[in-house]
Amino acid sequence: MKPLPNASDFLPGPVLMLGAPGVGKGTQAQLLMAEFNIPQISTGDLLREHRKNHTKLGMLADELMSKGQLVPDDLVNDMVAERFKQPDTEHGYILDGYPRTINQAEWLDTQLVAYLLPVVAVHIVVPQRVLLERITGRRISPAGRIYNIYTNPPKVEGICDIDGSKLEQRKDDTEEVFHERMKAFDAKTAAVIDYYRTHGGRFAEVNGDQPVEDVTKAIRAALLKLRHHPESDKDSEQ
Ligand code: AP5
Repeated sequence: MKPLPNASDFLPGPVLMLGAPGVGKGTQAQLLMAEFNIPQISTGDLLREHRKNHTKLGMLADELMSKGQLVPDDLVNDMVAERFKQPDTEHGYILDGYPRTINQAEWLDTQLVAYLLPVVAVHIVVPQRVLLERITGRRISPAGRIYNIYTNPPKVEGICDIDGSKLEQRKDDTEEVFHERMKAFDAKTAAVIDYYRTHGGRFAEVNGDQPVEDVTKAIRAALLKLRHHPESDKDSEQ
């Protein structure tokens, strides 16, 4: 079992950001990882990195992602297993967009035994009518900063406020692919949300249809409420 870090009164441990395409998983994960000093692990970003590097996985992922379909579980699980080997995951991480199927959730359960703290799953909820605008309006910097031409535009059109780089639109952020992504969410990922809701885990549902900072506050409050104190963990083991 991995030792707990010293002198910290808040240890988020493994956190899952769950929700439909565009609910704000990446936006919130980026804000919270800085605050809690644990990494964001986005399977979408990892797959896009593979695509950029023209790996075999990247080529397959490109084909499936451009149709809004899920990448096979074993390939995604292996990719996550590789990421978990990095030392920055030792005391927790924010998984963004993973798990997306029951098979992935069950595989993740086998990995979580390495952590003293139990997983906390946060489901961000946004009405579907809002999501299309979020998806088609999203622009991303090469470094992964997230903007939206409607709700969070850069100061200069098409340019990242922070590093001046050119903003890009994701290939799968079209209306047509969005509908396919929603179908995959309804068919496979909705069951994962029920899995965490009903399996005695630590689960919170947060309204994502409010300003970004209010969503962050709500998630922070949920994490604080659901977290395990190291002392109470020890007590419960005795
Ligand atoms: P992935 O990259 O994970 O996409 P997704 O789950 O569809 O989620 P998004 O990244 O689109 O949205 P988000 O919830 O992170 O929202 P964001 O914060 O950016 O996956 C892409 C593909 O990869 C999948 O389709 C699949 O093919 C494959 N894949 C990935 N993981 C996989 C897995 N585990 N298994 C199998 N295949 C996998 O925000 C969206 C926009 O809204 C932004 O413009 C943002 O500025 C804006 N916004 C955010 N919050 C607010 C707010 N509160 N108010 C107003 N605007 C907001």
